[in-house]
Amino acid sequence: MAPCCSGALPPGDGVLAPSPGYSCNTKRVSFPLVDGPILQLYQTVTSRTGIVSFVRSAKFDELFQPSWASDHVIYEGEQLKLKLDHYSGAGFVSKSKYMFGKTTVQIKLVEGDSAGTVTAFYMSSEGPKHHEFDFEFLGNTSGEPYLVQTNVYVNGVGNREERQSLWFDPTKDFHSYSILWNQHQVVFLIDETPIRVFSNKEKRGVPFPKDQPMGVYSSIWNADDWATQGGRVKTDWTHAPFVSSYKGFEIDGCECPITTTADENQKRCMSSSVNQKGRYWWDEPVMSELNLHQHHQLLWVRANHQIYDYCTDSTRFPVAPPECDHRP
Ligand SMILES: *[C@@H]1O[C@H](CO)[C@@H](O)[C@H](O)[C@H]1NC(C)=O
Repeated sequence: MAPCCSGALPPGDGVLAPSPGYSCNTKRVSFPLVDGPILQLYQTVTSRTGIVSFVRSAKFDELFQPSWASDHVIYEGEQLKLKLDHYSGAGFVSKSKYMFGKTTVQIKLVEGDSAGTVTAFYMSSEGPKHHEFDFEFLGNTSGEPYLVQTNVYVNGVGNREERQSLWFDPTKDFHSYSILWNQHQVVFLIDETPIRVFSNKEKRGVPFPKDQPMGVYSSIWNADDWATQGGRVKTDWTHAPFVSSYKGFEIDGCECPITTTADENQKRCMSSSVNQKGRYWWDEPVMSELNLHQHHQLLWVRANHQIYDYCTDSTRFPVAPPECDHRP
């Protein structure tokens, strides 16, 4: 069996279970729902052309589960909602861990007064030397703009905050937020527009996250000590509950069974060891950096929406961190 077809399906998805001799061709499968709306699985898998890929857009339950305060996790048709009130916030976590690939979720952020609240969407590994890629959406008073804070932790060390404003109102509609991760870069995308790239600069001695499987997480909580206007605006609990809505869950990555050791997972999930038969799409040479169009998009975001960049904060970092050189 080609490596693309093994281990990638959660138990219970019998329909797609790879049969012996399954030939990794492009295949699209949709089927009616058992117990809810949207369930569409599709695979784009080609081993003969050298590209191995697995895409799925799935129902929340297939990929995720509540991680805390499940009574504040609300299922509403095709949407999932996380609720924050003065009793509790809430969160969810992927059932599996992944190495490399792309994770996307569509979010509609807390409407109206969201001051003091933070909604986060992130990937993280575990342990003191963990890696983490964060989107944090910092709420605001009614009519004032949200900010998006991103951060990258490598080997337990973060302090790489950037803040950007958005070119749309994230509380009016769903927008897609994605994290693309391969051995060359971590890219944060909003509606497919890259807003930040963390490039592999191991050659200059900057550690790069590529050795730990990561879970996918989201949560909403009260952070009024820092989130809004530097902590000056507090959460107004008379406006609770604060609700963020989700749909369109997609994880297109190399799934890492919990029973498999980190070493084995790393081998399975790196194309260099996918026994020549195929290669994961995220390891294709074109994925190792932004294309020209994306590069222009990134420059546009940085020129028009950048509010804060740790790389230029000389108060915090009299000497700019090494990954900050020659960055777009
Ligand atoms: C909230 O609105 C104020 C005023 O427009 C703005 O300065 C601030 O950056 C906004 N966002 C946050 C998260 O404070």
